[in-house]
Amino acid sequence: MAKWRAEGSRTCLVPTMGSIHAGHIALIKRARELGDRVIVSIYVNPSQFSNDEDFDTYPRNSLNDKESIASTGNVDAIYAPMTMYGDQHSTNIVPVGLATTMEGLVRPHFFTGVATIVFKLFQHVPADFAIFGEKDFQQFAVLQQMVTDLDIPITVISHPTIREVDGLALSSRNQYLSKKQRQQAPILYKTIKSTAAKILSGASVENSIALAKQYLIKTGFDRIEYFDLRSSDQLTPTTTPRSIDRLFVAVWLGKTRLIDNCTLGSDNFHCS
Ligand code: PAF
Repeated sequence: MAKWRAEGSRTCLVPTMGSIHAGHIALIKRARELGDRVIVSIYVNPSQFSNDEDFDTYPRNSLNDKESIASTGNVDAIYAPMTMYGDQHSTNIVPVGLATTMEGLVRPHFFTGVATIVFKLFQHVPADFAIFGEKDFQQFAVLQQMVTDLDIPITVISHPTIREVDGLALSSRNQYLSKKQRQQAPILYKTIKSTAAKILSGASVENSIALAKQYLIKTGFDRIEYFDLRSSDQLTPTTTPRSIDRLFVAVWLGKTRLIDNCTLGSDNFHCS
C-alpha cells in the first residue's frame, strides 16, 4: 500500500465477512470508481456475534469468495487475516449515540464489535475510502460518526441496497431461508414500500406502522423487533415525515433475522 500511496494512487477498502454476493460485487464496482486501487477484506468477526447468534454457522466459503472477487477484474488485493484479536485483547471502541437505538438495543454487543474490528481494519489497511452497504444503514451511520470522532483519515461511503428481482435485500443470511420462507421474505420490502407511500401521502405514522406490523405477523413473520420511522442523519424517531426520513425494520422469519430499510421518498430498487 505504501508503494501505491507513493505513486499517488487512492485506495478504496471494501470490508466484508465473505460469503460474497451481488451486493458485495456492487460495492466493489463502486470502489473501483472511487479509487485507483481496491482492497476487499474478508473476516468473519467473532466480536459482533453474541454467544446465541450464528457465528459458528455463518456461511464461509473462501475459495468461492476469492473466485467471485477475482472474476470482477476490479480488485487489486484481498486481505483475509486468520484472526484479528490477540489472546489478551482488552481494548474496544464503544460507540454511543447513534449506536444505542434499533440494532444497538436488540444486539447490545453488535456495534462495539463492528466499530472495534473496522477501526482495526482501518489500521491494517489505511485506505482513502471505505464503502458499506445501506442495508446496514445504522452500521454505516455509526462508522461515519466513528471516523469523525476519532479523526480517522478515511472517507466512509454508503452504497444503495442491492435487491433480488422480487425486492428482497441481498444478505448472506438469506441462505438460511427455507424455500417457503424465501417466498415469504419479499413481503418485508413490499410492506416497507407500501407503508412509506402511505405515510408520504399523509397517513398517520403510528397507524401506518401498526398496520404494517399486523400485516407482517399475519403473513407469517414470527417476530418484529422494530419498525421505526427515523431521520436519516441522527436516526431520531419522527412523526413529522419528510421524504428523506427512513423506515427501519428488523424481523424474524423462523430462525432467520432479516433487516431492511428505505427512505420514504426513494425509488432506489437496485436489483442484482
Ligand atoms: O457489514 C459487514 O459485513 C460487517 O459488519 C463488517 C463491516 C465487515 C465488519 O465485520
